[in-house]
Amino acid sequence: MQLNIFEDNDALSREAASEIVNTIQQKSNAVICLASGSTPILTYKYVVEIIQRDKIDIADVTFIGLDEWLGIPPDNEGSCHYFFQQHLFQHLRFSASNIYMFRAMAERPISECERMDKVIRHLNGIDLMLVGIGMNGHIGFNEPGVPFNKYSHIVDLDETTVSVGQKYFKEATVLKQGITLGLQHLMETGKVLLLANGEKKALIIKQTIEGEISNKVPASIMRQHPNGIIMLDKEAASLLSH
Ligand code: F6R
Repeated sequence: MQLNIFEDNDALSREAASEIVNTIQQKSNAVICLASGSTPILTYKYVVEIIQRDKIDIADVTFIGLDEWLGIPPDNEGSCHYFFQQHLFQHLRFSASNIYMFRAMAERPISECERMDKVIRHLNGIDLMLVGIGMNGHIGFNEPGVPFNKYSHIVDLDETTVSVGQKYFKEATVLKQGITLGLQHLMETGKVLLLANGEKKALIIKQTIEGEISNKVPASIMRQHPNGIIMLDKEAASLLSH
């Protein structure tokens, strides 16, 4: 694992954006898996800018959504679907047939897990994953206590996730379960970027990097990834010992 600390969120986001764009430029049919949330918003803005400016062809790129709130429809502004529509799809020409996201309203959500695992297997895995970190150390919806060797699964959301998650919704919303790629997917991904910014993430980042590697802090798995990069701004890195 590599640790990169940036002056501020702007520098961090520019670097993360160029990692995404470089992956696409090196492999026109790259498979990219992205998280939603507040952290990567500026990164995606820069990705859009670079792809538009340099007229980079993304027709063969496959997009995979990391996770989704179960039972929240795609037109709800707090859903991951809505997020990607706003921040990526309305600006960039992905092929609709190359976009794979968990369908939160599916009658049999477990089939969504099977579908996603199959898609990823057929694509020969994910080339680049960009993830954030929850206040409880989750990645995607891999909550504390999750076995490291899981593929896609349905999760009963942790209390922290339910309360912090309210920030994405216009009105108080009942959040109970999530659907997510598993940490086994993360370990099998070519390169993983974990981004964190702001002082509020400093403590969980310290636990992730300096605590034991354990599913109590799922993000600590990053330290076992041979090509994992933790990218922080100075504030998120502020409690690290070295
Ligand atoms: C979202 C996701 C979550 C977030 C995490 C951090 O798709 O997978 O794990 O990355 O909760 O959220 P923010 O960036 O809003 O602090």
